[in-house]
Amino acid sequence: MSDYQSRISPERLPAWQLLEGLASSVKDRNIIDLFNENPNRCSDFSIHHNELLLDFSKNLITDQAFSALVNLAEQSFINSHLEAMCNGEPINTTEHRAALHMALRGHKKDDFRHDGKPVHEQVERALQQMSAISEQVREGKWVGSTGKEITDVVHLGVGGSDLGPRMACQALRAYAHNKINIHFVSNADGAEILSTIKVLNPETTLVLIVSKSFGTQETMLNAQTALAWLGQLLGLENPQGSPHVIAITANRQEALRFGVDPSRILEFQEWVGGRYSLWSSVGLSVSICIGYENFKSMLEGAREMDIHYKTAPLKKNMPVIMALINIWYNNFLDTHTQAVIPYCERLTLLPSYLQQLEMESNGKSVSMDGEYVSYETSPIIWGQTGTDSQHAFFQLLHQGTHYVPVDFIGFINDSLSNENHHNFLLSNLLAQASALMTGTQEQNLPAYKYYKGNKPSNTLLLKELTPTNFGALIALYEHKVFVQGSIWNINSYDQWGVELGKNMTKKVLISNLSDDDSIDPSTKNLHNYIRENTK
Ligand code: F6P
Repeated sequence: MSDYQSRISPERLPAWQLLEGLASSVKDRNIIDLFNENPNRCSDFSIHHNELLLDFSKNLITDQAFSALVNLAEQSFINSHLEAMCNGEPINTTEHRAALHMALRGHKKDDFRHDGKPVHEQVERALQQMSAISEQVREGKWVGSTGKEITDVVHLGVGGSDLGPRMACQALRAYAHNKINIHFVSNADGAEILSTIKVLNPETTLVLIVSKSFGTQETMLNAQTALAWLGQLLGLENPQGSPHVIAITANRQEALRFGVDPSRILEFQEWVGGRYSLWSSVGLSVSICIGYENFKSMLEGAREMDIHYKTAPLKKNMPVIMALINIWYNNFLDTHTQAVIPYCERLTLLPSYLQQLEMESNGKSVSMDGEYVSYETSPIIWGQTGTDSQHAFFQLLHQGTHYVPVDFIGFINDSLSNENHHNFLLSNLLAQASALMTGTQEQNLPAYKYYKGNKPSNTLLLKELTPTNFGALIALYEHKVFVQGSIWNINSYDQWGVELGKNMTKKVLISNLSDDDSIDPSTKNLHNYIRENTK
């Protein structure tokens, strides 16, 4: 075991203390002045990686604060934490699990190991299985119980078993198969599953039950509804064992018990965290949608970002810099929020995806040593696509009382758009980032018309929304999250905070609330009200 666990509170690091001192003086600076002081700021404060450019020059960060932040990363031993992750050590200490999602996109020569054993063959086998299934479905060779080819795939899953594939299918729709429709149902809200299946033909529908644990209540409830529909309309006694159903899980035993045919269970390993599982067989719907070769390109883009993260010096390392900038605002400038605004409607789901990735990973208040931390961890992540969000919450960004750092994301080329639209869209991105920073130049304006400016942002520009670039973008945020968790000395890979609510639901469902002393009075009252008003 490396020194993964021999970590100290970040507050005790010299760089943290220096940053605390610097924060009060930097707060009064103006970003525009920083450009005047350093004519090379644009190039000094930007990083290229393949087809991605991160421009972080529009941040309220002086050269001195930037060096101190890089020192903070060094002093936090983020490189040895990364090494522990790559070595397959159980860095998720509360669940005694490794976090080897990088192995899912690794090549044989990358030699990822778990318990000392190479995992590449296992990964390759799963990919081959995905490749075979997705090509059969796409070519009309995977047929249902009545011999008809598949026209609709219903992906049932929630959280990490839903958000990544759902977002990828939407983001990469330029590459989608033109005859196969992919539907996603995650919510327990019956209106969703019922309205989805209502318009489908069960003979030509393939249901993917996607759950790492194969026990998540929402997913199993939706699966039961979909199976009942298949069984009833196709006259199948055992629809779960039919070619209309594939299970994707790390719990093969449970999928077998559920009755799925063993040849139609795609596995992934415990060392794949749910919210890091897009790259595993959880991505089958993506591979069906865009084709296996494009799915592989997505993995390749992510792998290249992994290599950048592992090899670039800290001050030129994209995920490290994004993590540090966020820590600067969160821990030293008291900004506890981060907005993400993609200027691409196909990335509508990116803010939701990042909410799970960042807040489920780093929304923790207990350190790796089991102590409560005395500093802030994950900020609140939120956002929406531009230009729509400009007509919603940009008022607050420009003139509100909160100071909100923004990640603007844009694509330089878009084959699905035209020059007219695309120029306008990108102009909006540039204009908003600029307006936030510069504010109003005119003097003597009434206060309500005045923009103070000095509002920070990152701009991420990608050449095009290709599978490769999409993979790189998502891997970038994954690594950013790990670097932050590492510096905050927290476990980014567990999620105990979601358990209490799940257990409470079971209790509220099954108990007679009036007799249960452990249920609070307000909940009992609401429960009664619901009962009285149920038609
Ligand atoms: O909400 C908690 C969680 O465990 C997530 O971490 C996970 O992605 C999601 O539920 C779904 O879990 P499963 O894949 O086991 O159904």
